[in-house]
Amino acid sequence: MTPSDIKWPKKTREYHDHHTDSTIWNDFKFRADDIIIATYAKSGTTWTQQIVSQLLHDGAEGIAAADMSPWVDMRVPPKEVKLPELEKQTHRRFLKTHLPADAIVYSPQAKYIFIARDGRDVAWSFYNHHKNANEAYYDAVNNSPGRVGPAFEPPKGDVVEYFREFVEKDGFPYWPFWQNIRTWWEIRDLPNLLTLHFADMKADLPGTIRQIAEFLEIPIKEEKWPAILEHCSFDYMKENAAATVPLNGALWEGGAKTFIHKGTNGRWADMLSQEDIKWYEAEVRKHLGDECAEWLAHGSRAGR
Ligand code: A3P
Repeated sequence: MTPSDIKWPKKTREYHDHHTDSTIWNDFKFRADDIIIATYAKSGTTWTQQIVSQLLHDGAEGIAAADMSPWVDMRVPPKEVKLPELEKQTHRRFLKTHLPADAIVYSPQAKYIFIARDGRDVAWSFYNHHKNANEAYYDAVNNSPGRVGPAFEPPKGDVVEYFREFVEKDGFPYWPFWQNIRTWWEIRDLPNLLTLHFADMKADLPGTIRQIAEFLEIPIKEEKWPAILEHCSFDYMKENAAATVPLNGALWEGGAKTFIHKGTNGRWADMLSQEDIKWYEAEVRKHLGDECAEWLAHGSRAGR
């Protein structure tokens, strides 16, 4: 198949909320070697940004991955500020998006990495992220220029209540979950998209890093491999969190270490009732179908 035979995804709509402005992609000038790291959120975005930055910089210490790899569709700073900053970047760009595949502009030349994570793990991770958001966080999103939709409020209940509302109201209080997973899953066979799963990354980090390197066509200098591997480990990233998380963690109580929180899956297992679990699993199948539901829960190669 040649690129002209491929049915490339088309943007079909814009998406806005307190955090998001999808229109920035309409004015974004792609370069042929751009790398786009896409997730729903809380699914290994920062981890993958760290992996890509380590591959691009031969395992160097002190690479400020978060600064180099902004969240393109975040409303703050507005596109008038962000787009010129992205134009100025001279290194190979690796950019972050939380949009579903039907609300981005999809470039046939760029390379895309999408990472999924079980919705229960996402909700658990989001609860910590949201509960610890500080005043500066609320100020940034609620007073963003041209904010669309209701204000972003602190969580009211405990993590189980948070999870139930997240599923019932499809991603609440963040953006829709099912559409995000479904649209990326539907295009998983495109040659310039690599789909990964958080559980697979945890099960085999060295294998995942090599898979990403191969996909991005970045040769690994074997003498740098131990450093690359170390710098992508949870312990290293937690210890050096300020360099890897957005705004050095300034928007969370406890700073960057709050963002690189536990790095584990299944913390919900002994907190959700069997009824909750059955209900969630039925919701996933209803919205995503059996094959995608299976992948979302386990990935492809993680131990069961
Ligand atoms: P937890 O909150 O479950 O600990 P994102 O970057 O998409 O917001 O995802 C954040 C999640 O990725 C957090 O999950 C964080 O701890 C986890 N994470 C970040 N770096 C990691 C690493 N090197 N190993 C394992 N998990 C990591």
